[in-house]
Amino acid sequence: MNIDLNIIEKYNVPVPRYTSYPPANHFTDEITSGDFLELISASNSWEPQHMAFYVHIPFCKKICFYCGCNACRLNGTQEVRDYLEALKKEIIHVAGQLDRSRKVTQLHFGGGTPNAIPAEMLAEITALFNREFTFSDDAEIAIETNPATLDLPYMEKLVSAGFNRFSFGIQDFNEEVLKMVNREPSAIPVPELVKLVKSLNDRAAVNLDFIYGLPGQSPESFSSSMEKAAEADPDRLVTFSYAHVPWLKKHQQILEKRGLPGPEEKTRMFLAGYDVLTAVGYEPVGLDHFVKREDELFRALEQKKLHRNFQGYCTRETTGQVYAFGVSAISQLEKAYVQNTKEIEKYTTEIGHGRLPVEKGKYLSDDQLMIREVITRLMCNKQLEWKTIADELGTGEETLKQLVGFDPGKFSEMEKDNLLEVSCEGLHVTERGSMMIRNIAAALDPAYKQQVNKYSKSV
Ligand SMILES: C[S@@+](CC[C@H](N)C(=O)[O-])C[C@H]1O[C@@H](n2cnc3c(N)ncnc32)[C@H](O)[C@@H]1O
Ligand code: SF4
Repeated sequence: MNIDLNIIEKYNVPVPRYTSYPPANHFTDEITSGDFLELISASNSWEPQHMAFYVHIPFCKKICFYCGCNACRLNGTQEVRDYLEALKKEIIHVAGQLDRSRKVTQLHFGGGTPNAIPAEMLAEITALFNREFTFSDDAEIAIETNPATLDLPYMEKLVSAGFNRFSFGIQDFNEEVLKMVNREPSAIPVPELVKLVKSLNDRAAVNLDFIYGLPGQSPESFSSSMEKAAEADPDRLVTFSYAHVPWLKKHQQILEKRGLPGPEEKTRMFLAGYDVLTAVGYEPVGLDHFVKREDELFRALEQKKLHRNFQGYCTRETTGQVYAFGVSAISQLEKAYVQNTKEIEKYTTEIGHGRLPVEKGKYLSDDQLMIREVITRLMCNKQLEWKTIADELGTGEETLKQLVGFDPGKFSEMEKDNLLEVSCEGLHVTERGSMMIRNIAAALDPAYKQQVNKYSKSV
């Protein structure tokens, strides 16, 4: 893929990532613990009926300098034990409000680093979910891991605990780059790790996570990392654009001293990776995923039914209402988002008092529900058909266009820059435009104000 560097300069402004709509910085204290309980009960009758669960394990053995996640250093086993006890109480509390006839289609452990704690503890949590709920036959039980500390016995325990999708945070194969960001390579060579998963469960799937835009990386080095990544033959590859938000994550300032690549260099890295992965048969999906042709995400994209939640891309079938547990975890219900406190001590104290540890959230108005649909569809499927969406939402095309402030004139510049095609039926994002899709979504977001230092830049 080719892209003009003037285009990058022109569109490289802070824009939301749109992992949710409205983005998480719009959450307020309007939702309390009591409100959340009511929302959970009400959600039993909302569509989609399926339940998805997210469990946040915030601990890491050490902190990577680029990290933008809600993570903290592991202080000792007592802290982990206390956290786990609180987590179980929270799950039981929420389970009490849920209709058990609803099926679970997704259980996702993220972090932090879930594998920073003993596998037996993770197994206790999966066992609790199994006791409380019924899982669909093809439920996805996923875990994000740092492979620097993974070994065979640990992997065996994860597979026996039911995990069937493994994300390994590789970030880069270049050890000089890893050193600069305070990280170690995979303990088991990555191709062997992928084979190991398949040998333990031939239906289990593997994702490999990478980041481009780190100090020490170049388009050539990233391209060679992508060649190695493809040789390992994972089911999915993710190439995250490094999100630099030092006003939120102070440790990222260290990377400024080590020399961060500029937007032009960063774009070349993405394009180099894109060319390598697509040449060997991976299909680009969403902003940053590459999957095999037979992957359900690619099938969903072909049918224009790709969807996403905070955990990543999914299909409408694999996700549903998402109930989230643990510090900083965000529940994503049809009509509201609710986020837990980010502080471990506050979290365990609140749970100890029998309260759900809600910190903030957002009720979605009917208008926002419709805007969310437009933005999510655009971000996932790279096109919009006004009539299809309006019909599904039970509204008129003109009402929908007005809600998102659609005016063809607003897009003429983007059209001229070959980022999209506008027709009477809708919008179609070009291959070039898919790199700037956050900017296109922002143009359809009435709540978007260009606030420097609120969002990372689009490149
Ligand atoms: C919770 S971490 C994954 C699990 C594990 N802690 C690890 O690091 O391997 C999720 C992924 O987010 C990505 N990530 C973290 N910070 C990022 C940032 N500032 N910009 C872009 N991607 C980031 C990394 O690729 C990481 O693998
Ligand atoms: S990238 Fe992963 S291991 Fe590194 S600090 Fe963040 S959550 Fe922890």
